Amino acid sequence: MGLFDEVQARSLSEPEKFWAEAAENIDWIKPCEKVLDDSDAPFYRWFQGGVLNSCYNALDRQVAGGRGNQIALIYDSPVTDSKEKITYSQLLARVEKFAGALDGLNVQKGDRVIIYMPMILEAAVAMLACARIGAVHSVVFGGFAANELATRIDDCQPKVIITASCGIEVSKVIPYKPLLDQAIELSSHKPSYCIVWQRPQVEASMIDGRDLDWVEVESQGPVKDCVPVAATDPLYILYTSGTTGQPKGIVRDNGGHAVALYWSMKNIYNVSPGDVFWGASDVGWVVGHSYIVYGPLMYGATSVMYEGKPVGTPDPGAFWRVISEHKVSVLFTAPTAFRAIRQQDPDATYLDKYDLSCFKTLFLAGERCDPDTLNWALEKLKVPVIDHWWQTETGWPIASNCLGIEQLPIVAGSPAKCVPGWDVRILDSEHKEVGAGDIGAIVCTLPLPPGTFSTLWNAPERHHEAYLSTFPGYYETGDAGYKDENGYIFVMSRTDDIINVAGHRLSTGAMEEVLAAHDDVSECAVIGVADKLKGQLPLGFMVLKAGANRSHDEVIGEVVQKVRKEIGPVAAFKLAAVVDRLPKTRSGKILRATMRKIADCEEHKVPATIDDPAILDEITIALKGLGYAASA
Ligand code: COA
Ligand code: AMP
Repeated sequence: MGLFDEVQARSLSEPEKFWAEAAENIDWIKPCEKVLDDSDAPFYRWFQGGVLNSCYNALDRQVAGGRGNQIALIYDSPVTDSKEKITYSQLLARVEKFAGALDGLNVQKGDRVIIYMPMILEAAVAMLACARIGAVHSVVFGGFAANELATRIDDCQPKVIITASCGIEVSKVIPYKPLLDQAIELSSHKPSYCIVWQRPQVEASMIDGRDLDWVEVESQGPVKDCVPVAATDPLYILYTSGTTGQPKGIVRDNGGHAVALYWSMKNIYNVSPGDVFWGASDVGWVVGHSYIVYGPLMYGATSVMYEGKPVGTPDPGAFWRVISEHKVSVLFTAPTAFRAIRQQDPDATYLDKYDLSCFKTLFLAGERCDPDTLNWALEKLKVPVIDHWWQTETGWPIASNCLGIEQLPIVAGSPAKCVPGWDVRILDSEHKEVGAGDIGAIVCTLPLPPGTFSTLWNAPERHHEAYLSTFPGYYETGDAGYKDENGYIFVMSRTDDIINVAGHRLSTGAMEEVLAAHDDVSECAVIGVADKLKGQLPLGFMVLKAGANRSHDEVIGEVVQKVRKEIGPVAAFKLAAVVDRLPKTRSGKILRATMRKIADCEEHKVPATIDDPAILDEITIALKGLGYAASA
């Protein structure tokens, strides 16, 4: 048995001892009474009775431990042509000051605060300031529309919303404040205050009595002391796509989160305190929470906040420039970023312009990594390229090559083996484990390790129903795949209607709700079709109401705009067709999986229960019109 397998086996045979040891790396105000509380199974709590503060662990103790002059965050923004490096001491001072502002507005432990901001330092300051005073932050990705923001405002009921006047998408300036104003108009819950960081590109107009300027509100005194919170208290809520238009509010606690992230920095990513770690994602996604803000800072690393794209800001050498300029040793991004770079610079000629001798490892996640992209990155970068698999719910990787323990052979198409703490099984519909190489539902044996979600905000029943009810004793990941004879996991697809567009998780169900609400649409289906750049793209079919005598192009144009307006540009919904009928089973279930297979030219059987097989030919014709089903 190799070292990795030994550590993995020990983590499962003695989980409490394993994680109690890992917890020694965290500063506790009061150690826990019980490492694992299983009294309410299948709901488990880690480090019951423990008291700590996540901001203290990320900042104060680093300064106290001698890292005050080390760079904590590097802001690099090709879209504004600016850069800023901020030390742990400086970041702590800014967080104390902004925590003072929140405190002055009477934000207290347990209150929710929404953060709707682009990739600027102030976003991290806002998150850490909330953690400092025990408030629960909920960051909303800037690419979501006002309607999505309104849904989140109503669900978590924030006392305060923090925003910036704009975001910048390559050369497009996106004013955020009008979106926020619109969202607050749409929502039933109204925040007491909005704090606005004014950026020079756009000045946000302010509503008297409600909107406050970040700089002015900071004139309150700083909060020097961190508020003690229970290990099991929520640190944040992060909304992610579920199978309906109502997103799931993933709740992350303080204690397990700190322990797991710290452990992962060494054991998975193999970085040392002081190294430069770059999570090229966005603070609006889980990767941004775990590996731009909390993980690197709690570990004493230097983290990069990059406001730009892999291509176009200004060229496909953008990532290499950042790596060489800031001496990045580990980069974590989504495969789609590498597909974009490769598409524009297939021979990676831009690599020759930069010295990448500092660079040790590339980690990829967020979507299935196609072997072609992985092999291209391996060949060009000449460093280990590690595919690893995780979810917003889990907060850190379920499967990975754990470089800090022992590097296992890299197998393209697989995120390697389950990480210590995780026990992944592949089950069939009868809940029996399948053999090596056979596809089934990917589940994880309960209890999940620390750092995973503790519940869904406002929806404990949905927590049970969506994740714990189908396979009792297991967490249902919603992914399907297989394990090979060496225990390597292959994650192949989702078992629900979630799709992954450019590494962004989206619900086709939510898009269907938008299409169905169009006046002329009688029924519809949205599927995820393969895309060379973004991995998947949504594609909609609509059947129009009898009597709807509008041109098809007009209706299509309207629904495309409607999805953009109601869900956001991030949905990238641009493909749609009007058809006479949708293929269904005799019991009325729409055959989405069959339509997807036809679109992607995958082998498919016509389901025996299909109502009218001729409809599949009509769908094929419609797909061909959109450039899909080319060889079907
Ligand atoms: N605020 C406002 N709008 C945003 C936004 C934000 N924070 N992020 C994205 N958008 C908009 C984009 O401008 C684009 O709008 P458009 O339709 O007007 O062009 C749309 O949402 C889709 O954005 P995106 O998916 O990023 O596509 P893109 O074509 O702009 O870029 C890639 C494609 C591959 C370069 C880009 O997706 C990328 O860099 N991905 C990296 C992977 C990543 O960060 N994954 C996150 C999880 S690790
Ligand atoms: P998110 O919650 O946005 O991180 O999306 C999680 C989903 O992305 C997973 O359930 C998978 O479907 C997919 N995913 C993430 N990482 C990988 C990976 N390395 N390989 C395959 N699929 C992945």
